[in-house]
Amino acid sequence: MPAFDPASLLLAWYDRDRRVLPWRYAPGEAADPYHVWLSEVMLQQTTVAAVIPYFQAFIRRWPRVGDLAAAATEEVMAAWAGLGYYARARNLHACAKLVAEWRGGRFPEDEAGLRQLPGIGDYTAAAIAAIAFGHRAVVVDGNVERVMARMFAVTDPLPAAKPRLKELAATLTPDDRAGDYAQAVMDLGATICTPRSPACGLCPWRPGCRAQALGLAESLPAKVEK
Ligand code: ADE
Repeated sequence: MPAFDPASLLLAWYDRDRRVLPWRYAPGEAADPYHVWLSEVMLQQTTVAAVIPYFQAFIRRWPRVGDLAAAATEEVMAAWAGLGYYARARNLHACAKLVAEWRGGRFPEDEAGLRQLPGIGDYTAAAIAAIAFGHRAVVVDGNVERVMARMFAVTDPLPAAKPRLKELAATLTPDDRAGDYAQAVMDLGATICTPRSPACGLCPWRPGCRAQALGLAESLPAKVEK
């Protein structure tokens, strides 16, 4: 085994400390792609805490994608009220209809197929491919960019550094347990590798983190002065 094996360390941390969230499954349990898709669309611009009650209300009311597709658009918009960014709700309903009516209720399994659907961009396609279908997709959101900038001490500012951060994220992404790994990096960014006062003492990646070694963790990622 290599001296520092980031994926194994992170997955061990996740198995011990992961956040319990209503769209997450016990290890080894198959994910429901409808739940994964719904949660990822809700999480696009909204915090985990705000999403939880909406996610639960949606799946109680519309247990399968076909149920959501059959709802009136106004009902879906009303149920979404409070989450903001209402284009997401319109796209959500359009996507549910396409999947239910044209694909027999099955979501595409790969990123390219997922990206064809309304409301699914690069990030969401990668998240669904990894979490729902176990594909080795490189899932990069703002949390993951911050974690990578620190791990590799990337001092180039955002947003120009984004492509480099994605390449670096790809070098760490394992073939196995792609969905758990993707959610583990997001949890690391949300709970330990936070923008302010990161909890480096609790971080499973501390032994390999260049920013921590250089005393730069809190100052990365750099941003262009506005
Ligand atoms: N943010 C976006 N998707 C997430 C997920 N699956 N788990 C935790 N945070 C997230």
